[in-house]
Amino acid sequence: MNKQWWKSSVVYQIYPRSFMDSNGDGIGDLNGIIRKLDYLKELGVDVLWISPIYKSPNDDNGYDISDYQDIMDEFGTMEDFDRLLAGAHERKIKIMMDLVVNHTSDEHPWFQESRKSKDNPYRDFYIWRDPVDGKEPNNWGACFGGSAWELDEQTGMYYLHLFSKKQPDLNWENDEVRRRIYEMMNWWCEKGIDGFRMDVISLLSKVQTFPDGEKGDGLYGNSDPYVCNGPRIHEFLQEMNREVLSKYDLITVGETSGVTVEQAKKYANLDGSELNMVFQFEHAFLNNGPYGKWTDNPVPLPELKEVLSKWQTELEGKAWNSLYWDNHDQPRAVSRYGNDSPRYREVSAKMLATCLHMMQGTPYIYQGEELGMTNIYFESIDDYKDIECIDNYYELTGSGLISKEDMIRYLGLRGRDNARTPMQWDDTENAGFTTGTPWLKVNPNYKQINAASQVHDENSVFSYYKKLISLRKQYPIIIDGHYELLLPEDDKIFAYTRTLGKEKLLVICNFSEETLDCPLGLPEHGELLIANYETQEDGVLKPYEAIAVLTTEE
Ligand code: NOJ
Repeated sequence: MNKQWWKSSVVYQIYPRSFMDSNGDGIGDLNGIIRKLDYLKELGVDVLWISPIYKSPNDDNGYDISDYQDIMDEFGTMEDFDRLLAGAHERKIKIMMDLVVNHTSDEHPWFQESRKSKDNPYRDFYIWRDPVDGKEPNNWGACFGGSAWELDEQTGMYYLHLFSKKQPDLNWENDEVRRRIYEMMNWWCEKGIDGFRMDVISLLSKVQTFPDGEKGDGLYGNSDPYVCNGPRIHEFLQEMNREVLSKYDLITVGETSGVTVEQAKKYANLDGSELNMVFQFEHAFLNNGPYGKWTDNPVPLPELKEVLSKWQTELEGKAWNSLYWDNHDQPRAVSRYGNDSPRYREVSAKMLATCLHMMQGTPYIYQGEELGMTNIYFESIDDYKDIECIDNYYELTGSGLISKEDMIRYLGLRGRDNARTPMQWDDTENAGFTTGTPWLKVNPNYKQINAASQVHDENSVFSYYKKLISLRKQYPIIIDGHYELLLPEDDKIFAYTRTLGKEKLLVICNFSEETLDCPLGLPEHGELLIANYETQEDGVLKPYEAIAVLTTEE
């Protein structure tokens, strides 16, 4: 058995609420995913990461879990899950669960018990602190706005919630909490799942003196540097590795906001002591402004190249990269890094895919990315359903820090609901996602952008992704080749090489809508692995052109 199969795998992320609705309630479900397994097989992906499907009151669309060993009512039953797992396995597709263990829902029985009294056996499962001078214990802000502390009237103490107040943080200092989490993880592994994507895993270990954080975005301080990559984080993950991960053949990826390359070498060390890989956020935060993501700053290409190249170079031989442009928390890749106008949408979506999939690491495709789905640009806050969009809108406009007009524009560019609009399957009503009323509006461009029109079109974005996935299976250089950035200063061209033995792969991508002179010549006897235009001209790059050419030294 190839123990490191995840190095040559491609992962596809499903946001179940928006993927496929099988029963007409307007909400995607497990049977919907089952119906689409053949589509995923056709695309050629190896692993499905499924965003949380556990019982949840859905304050944060399932990232607030009230029972780790049961399925959310809207999504189906455990029997449906078992059929999904079997159906995926029959097609040689693996299933990766979303593991959300920094916090639970406040409706989880552990928290229900914990809040009852100071001496409840579950009290110490969460993080409780007395008021300081009648106020919050420190200045930490929650990610969705407001303070990270909520006063609970029953005992007059505050509990910590780094996300919404319905997502209390678990106390990982408590041995019993960790034991119960590992027990639950083992239960899923015994069921036959193939891995975990670990939600905000870098936040598990908090500095226990809980000092005020540095002043951060918005109104409250952020919790930096007392929460990310905290003092015991590697100890906890190594313990989790011993107690669970090392016993099974899994794929594991940690969502690690605030991770540095140095930290990543520990989290994702190739010695297998913690996780297989991490999601870093440096490239996704490059165009942040004074209020975090709420800005219309463009993504600066030289910095994007610098950051991605740093991760490529520094982890090589030491740890493993994950590769992604978007996910359920990020805007659509083509709208953000490419160009979603009808003229350039397809070609720029293919360019972005080339740029990412030819790098070293495990690529993650977010549902609809393989179709070149775009942001929706809602014009009213009432169209948004995401707690982060809504809470930040009211907090930042209410305090006068950002005008309503600007905030709507920023939400259109960066809001999470851009990624969460229903999957566009065909050009029938509601894009074939549901026969009912979709929980979040369907992007009106579904008539032009949908799976049915792309699956059999060999020039589609879908077929392009399919080809990129199959190239990864054929050419070891894509997995193992040494990375080198070319033209680092160029602000329109992202070019690099991968080298393995006598082979060299040259990748050139034009990130602009201009036709450019390209100082990089095309090799005379190269094998064109993939390109997004039918013909290539030496020394010239067409708008959003991408080329990957392989040469072998004689
Ligand atoms: C990160 C998840 O990706 C996001 O969707 C969620 O809101 C937070 N963690 C809290 O669980």
